[in-house]
Amino acid sequence: METHNSYLAVLSIVILHLGLSAESIPVPKQVYQATITGLVAAGDDNIILNPRFEDGLNNWSGKGCKIELHESMEDGKVFPQSRKFFASATNRTENWNGIEQEITGRVQRKVAYEVTAVVRIYGDNVTSAGVQITLWVQEPDSREQYIAISKSETTDKDWVQLQGEFLLNGFPSRSVIYLEGPPPGTDILVNSLVVKRANKIPASARPFSKNATFGVNIIENGNLDDGTMGWFPLGNCALSVGTGSPHVLPPMARDSLGPYESLSGRYIIVTNRLDSWMGPAQMITDKLKLYLTYQVSAWVRIGPGATGSELVNVALDVDGQWINGGEIEFNDDQWHEIGGSFRIEKQPSYVMVYVQGPASDVDLMVSGLQIFPVNRQARFKHLKKQTDKIRKRDIILKFSRSGISNIVGNSIKVRQIKNSFPLGSCVTRTSMDNDKFVKFLVKNFNWAVFENELKWSWTEPQEGKFNYRDADELLDLCKSYNMEVRGHCIFWEMEYAIQSWVRSLNASSLMTAVQNRLTGLLTRYKGKFRHYDVNNEMLHGSFYPDRLGKDIRANMFKTAHELDPFATLFVNDYHIEDASDIRSTPEKYKQQILDLQEQGAPVGGIGIQGHIDVPVGPVVCSALDKLGTLGIPVWFTELDVSSSNEYVRADDLEVVLREAFAHPAVEGVILWGFWELYMSRKNAHLVNADGKINAAGKRFLALKKEWQSHARGRINELGEFRFRGFHGTYNVEFVSTAKQVNMTFVVDQGESPLVVSIDL
Ligand SMILES: *[C@@H]1O[C@H](CO)[C@@H](O)[C@H](O)[C@H]1NC(C)=O
Ligand SMILES: *[C@@H]1O[C@H](CO)[C@@H](O)[C@H](O)[C@H]1NC(C)=O
Ligand SMILES: *[C@@H]1O[C@H](CO)[C@@H](O)[C@H](O)[C@H]1NC(C)=O
Ligand SMILES: *[C@@H]1O[C@H](CO)[C@@H](O)[C@H](O)[C@H]1NC(C)=O
Ligand SMILES: *[C@@H]1O[C@H](CO)[C@@H](O)[C@H](O)[C@H]1NC(C)=O
Ligand SMILES: *[C@@H]1O[C@H](CO)[C@@H](O)[C@H](O)[C@H]1NC(C)=O
Repeated sequence: METHNSYLAVLSIVILHLGLSAESIPVPKQVYQATITGLVAAGDDNIILNPRFEDGLNNWSGKGCKIELHESMEDGKVFPQSRKFFASATNRTENWNGIEQEITGRVQRKVAYEVTAVVRIYGDNVTSAGVQITLWVQEPDSREQYIAISKSETTDKDWVQLQGEFLLNGFPSRSVIYLEGPPPGTDILVNSLVVKRANKIPASARPFSKNATFGVNIIENGNLDDGTMGWFPLGNCALSVGTGSPHVLPPMARDSLGPYESLSGRYIIVTNRLDSWMGPAQMITDKLKLYLTYQVSAWVRIGPGATGSELVNVALDVDGQWINGGEIEFNDDQWHEIGGSFRIEKQPSYVMVYVQGPASDVDLMVSGLQIFPVNRQARFKHLKKQTDKIRKRDIILKFSRSGISNIVGNSIKVRQIKNSFPLGSCVTRTSMDNDKFVKFLVKNFNWAVFENELKWSWTEPQEGKFNYRDADELLDLCKSYNMEVRGHCIFWEMEYAIQSWVRSLNASSLMTAVQNRLTGLLTRYKGKFRHYDVNNEMLHGSFYPDRLGKDIRANMFKTAHELDPFATLFVNDYHIEDASDIRSTPEKYKQQILDLQEQGAPVGGIGIQGHIDVPVGPVVCSALDKLGTLGIPVWFTELDVSSSNEYVRADDLEVVLREAFAHPAVEGVILWGFWELYMSRKNAHLVNADGKINAAGKRFLALKKEWQSHARGRINELGEFRFRGFHGTYNVEFVSTAKQVNMTFVVDQGESPLVVSIDL
């Protein structure tokens, strides 16, 4: 069952958000964590019966396989981790076979549950395999749903603890929880399974960064005034200082620090690099403050020895974990801007920054490395001005002459009832069953996109077996509330996202299947989806061109356009806007779009997914500026931000929303969900599982309010009322000849003032 989301493939480089600091976070969250690990021992409100097999195999059964009870296995090499028994699922012939327990009637809807299992595997031919906890739910109308709760790599050496959470919105008539995953022939061993109501996490406190010195570089001797003091070579390379690097700040840093800062013109040159990770380094542990957003900036260059493209990366080693502080790739010997951002949310024992990347023996030059906390508020002032310029318009309400005398001096009230800027959210079929979800959705968004329900793997999971029902129902819901809908997505280039029957087709059958997919989907929904993401993530995957040749992508666009000329056809990709992925830089994205256009593909929109970490305004804006030069609309199509602290999450969201709203190339923003446990990304929600709007949600609503205009005053002696307001629909009320008049008008985009004539 496809519940993946587009950015999951790259999560391995995103590390920051897991832990919590003892210093800045109130205790309860830690208690919550402790409770999870303590669950297996305690847990009297566990809804699983006989969770540790002390009552034999009672209440358990095999899903397509046999189950057995053990005190030990393999002549005493395998023992339970706790208590006396464990169970095995054996004689498995399919990946989905495993041990199961029916929990119908014991699990409630709209309640968040946390799940913990202790498992391992056993088998002749396997030493490690993924094990997944899955919840199967059947609704009264016999619709089935498979919810992946947790998945982890397990081994035959040790017990592994799997943890996850779930929330049911529908009305399950049956529910069964089970463990599955390893290849046939491998046994799944289970020591315990616990499913209990998740403890409510008390709202996090706003982390206040005392004495944050915004804009001040934490790198020691960054200007190299004192030789290489403060720096050390990582690995067996040699550092020395040269002169002749740029005096001007790299553009993204200039936008944060102001135009008059300058650099010394000195640079570190790294020679004798025996490995790609070797470069100049500093320890910065004591200089970092938790929860502050740090921007990274430098000029970098490589020496002559390079043969092709070289990668350069500003890396942070945080307690042994690599964090990306910015990454670029180039193949000349010019200076290049490198930039990025990061944040630490858990007290580390050490943090080292180093610059690395080029192949061994290629010299590396680094100038003006800066790491500084960003003052986000300062940039907001600039963005508000910009927003005023592009999203608002002067409006003159002009009352016709015959009626003027009656109404001069009368009071008038103008209220904006709709903002025309597209602001949407991802929805799922099951979230439709939660009335509170729907209420928030239709109240606060005017666009929607379906998380999975339109994907090929969902609409045709097996060849010729179609399921359009979920998409139809979602579409009906959106249309009934006048919401516009994006079609996501016709194809998806990532191999892991492609259902197995499609993966196994030979080229000629695949070509036919692609044609059938296009015809089937776009004929069925002709005129219904305003946008299509034609072929998701073309910068990251290449399933279709690998098999069908380089023209296939342009042909998908052309055919889609013929079948539904009404829809705007988008490219859609991730890590475009955060300078952290050399596969998907704005430059590469731009080139890909130009190439498609050159081949005749009618690309009508640029989708930036926006699964962003630690957004920094000037970095995001730089990407928008570059893509904006193509002259076609840019949308954030899957925006989500993640922080364990909901105030920091609120700040991140505000950064991206303000950048988007202030940028003339951006014509819409879609959030990738908003409801806890109904988002593919953790710690990204605006509304908690119980329906409470958290700090991030409140910030979102405050921005929406800020972007609506209201005005009141009196009609002047020319019979006019003037104000400036956001584009959208307005309601005006005034009194004329003792009559209350109430009417609506629409403010669209335009340079000149909009004159609305009101004939009385
Ligand atoms: C659990 O197993 C016990 C023992 O077989 C049985 O009496 C009980 O009815 C079972 N409970 C459920 C809900 O099936
Ligand atoms: C289960 O598998 C074992 C060994 O693979 C085999 O000996 C046994 O007959 C199988 N049992 C059943 C019920 O299929
Ligand atoms: C293990 O692999 C061998 C050789 O591939 C095969 O004959 C055997 O059936 C496998 N055993 C299991 C339990 O899958
Ligand atoms: C903040 O700065 C002031 C003045 O420099 C200093 O007295 C105070 O101790 C600092 N507080 C913290 C928490 O660092
Ligand atoms: C591709 O697969 C189809 C269906 O299995 C088959 O009829 C056809 O001969 C295959 N084509 C080639 C070139 O192998
Ligand atoms: C005027 O119309 C708007 C929207 O239709 C409504 O919300 C408002 O209450 C009306 N005002 C009066 C005074 O009728």
